[in-house]
Amino acid sequence: MSDDGGAAIEDYYLEERLFPPPEGFVDDAVVADRSIIERAQHDFEGFWADQARALDWFDDWHTVLEWDLPFARWFVGGTLNVSHNCLDRHVAAGLGERVAIHWEGEPGDTRTITYAELLADVERFANVLKGLGVRRGDRVAIYMPMIPELPVAMLACTRIGAPHSVVFGGFSPDALRDRIDDAQAKVLVTADGGWRRGAVVALKENADTAVAEAASIEHVVVARRTGDAGGTTPMTDGRDHWWDELMSKAPESCPPEHMDAEDLLYLLYTSGTTAKPKGIMHSTGGYLTQVAFTHRAVFDLHPERDVYWCAADIGWVTGHSYIVYGPLANGATSVMYEGTPDFPDKDRWWDIIERYGVTILYCAPTAIRTFMKWGTEFPERHDMSSLRVLGSVGEPINPEAWVWYWTHIGGGHCPVVDTWWQTETGAIMISPLPGITTCKPGSATFPLPGIAAEVVDDSGKSIDRGGGYLTLTRPWPAMLRGLYGDPERYKETYWSRFDGRYFAGDGAKIDDDGYFWLLGRVDDVMNISGHRISTAEVESSLVNHPSVAEAAVVGAKDDTTGQAIIAFVTLKAGQNETAERGEELRGHVARHIGSIARPRTVIFTDELPKTRSGKIMRRLLRDVAEGRDLGDTTTLADPRVVDEIRRLSTAQPTED
Ligand code: PRX
Repeated sequence: MSDDGGAAIEDYYLEERLFPPPEGFVDDAVVADRSIIERAQHDFEGFWADQARALDWFDDWHTVLEWDLPFARWFVGGTLNVSHNCLDRHVAAGLGERVAIHWEGEPGDTRTITYAELLADVERFANVLKGLGVRRGDRVAIYMPMIPELPVAMLACTRIGAPHSVVFGGFSPDALRDRIDDAQAKVLVTADGGWRRGAVVALKENADTAVAEAASIEHVVVARRTGDAGGTTPMTDGRDHWWDELMSKAPESCPPEHMDAEDLLYLLYTSGTTAKPKGIMHSTGGYLTQVAFTHRAVFDLHPERDVYWCAADIGWVTGHSYIVYGPLANGATSVMYEGTPDFPDKDRWWDIIERYGVTILYCAPTAIRTFMKWGTEFPERHDMSSLRVLGSVGEPINPEAWVWYWTHIGGGHCPVVDTWWQTETGAIMISPLPGITTCKPGSATFPLPGIAAEVVDDSGKSIDRGGGYLTLTRPWPAMLRGLYGDPERYKETYWSRFDGRYFAGDGAKIDDDGYFWLLGRVDDVMNISGHRISTAEVESSLVNHPSVAEAAVVGAKDDTTGQAIIAFVTLKAGQNETAERGEELRGHVARHIGSIARPRTVIFTDELPKTRSGKIMRRLLRDVAEGRDLGDTTTLADPRVVDEIRRLSTAQPTED
């Protein structure tokens, strides 16, 4: 493998023990019937058609799958509506009073929203959007904190067939503008601000900066969240509108559009190997089918009694699929939390689990590792006996964190499901099934029913044991349908490295028992706390700074966040390598992209090590970064680093 980005394989074998499903799980499990798994193996199209039948369709499909590699069409000819499936059909089934969302704001305010109430809000907001001129097929950008108005806005878009593009609230005005521009969004939905660790994030201010340069936006809708705490919110006449004012005037009822199964449901921008984020396109019928199935099967969801909490942000795919669409399609009761785990104190998460009686918890390994550092005293203060299933997502989970999660959060009675998937796959692809799969800590175990994954070597040959590249060999319903506006890049990025295979960008290993182990990215994508950031995007931001001549960015191993961003920077002649300059550059990237992209460390160097063809030797830079104890925020202008790079580059002339 050229550039494995992840931990050494030995690290994954620290824990050899097997963890069978806890007692009591086997008979009760959603996928206890193994014939489902067998059917998926023999007839994957038939299997997915069965899953699609669990949804409400206005018109049946005539063909389950049309596969013209690499373009798939699922449930061809079928029509449905996502908001109808997530809301109306549950209300019609008498579940209107069931809680859809237990929402908790960071300052401690709460809201309880039933399915009937959510439907009413969605219908009204769909009418608000229509009133602002949004028509079927128009794109709507959404830039919001974790408040109930966010899923309302998304579902309202699906009701009228307007694809949404949610932009994570931690992204900068520039990042928002680029995404609005690429999608040519007509309306932006935002809020005055959001709460983060007791401070106000100035969302409307960011939105104003972005919209000033985004000509496609005709209207901005602003939900009230922080009010006066964020200062007064300037509103531009004719363009900006308060959410509540439009809602109070909007008609109550809005019938759902009959959408084609293949209609674009949403765009979600994610980082690739270039500086330009890719607009991942998700479809309507296939996407909803797979997120609903996986949400039931992987979390062993019993909607009538479970309280499910996915602690991601809706700005990422995890939130789209497993806070909004999966849980609501299944009629589940979810917890939605606005803030961070350490606010106002380190008891917050466990307190939420105790108060709401959470039964299923889904979060990222970074969070688990942070809790491990804080110690068991915090979870031990709370009654968390309600928990039944624990999930992990976003990055490889190390066996120690897995076992800690199992022992200290799950009390030894909850299966831990490590779920591998991507923005592109739309839904979980590789994961244990509670009640069925015997787990090995650190392994995502096996591909789910209906999914065909293989590990291949450099030449593209499938291997059944050992390490290589993770590929998918058959289309799956929730797969991306392309990159917005760029079909060639779609083919090139995902389908050209190995003939006839989708290449995920991840390294993986299959052990002697056939278990899959995810080893991290093999391309220039970093994974910081489960969030994807491209090295090229950070580099291009750095070289935008007037003092920078050249920059190379690598993701180095980090005990808490999985990887951390380390930037090697060569300054222009006459510029000084000072700690202040390093801080300035870190701040520059945070302002340009968003604070998740802020380099942990900036290292000044006179030269960047390059191959003869001029390619930066990233592997070597990572070795340097990982081989040293680089402080969290310290900026090093350290001649020893430069010496080390020089020494290593003469010692290892390999092309990277
Ligand atoms: O490298 C893999 C890692 O996250 C990447 C996908 O990132 P994104 O599209 O932002 O979606 C994250 C949430 C699904 C993958 O290419 N990844 C995701 N889940 C796992 C993982 N790596 C190891 N184990 C996982 N369970």
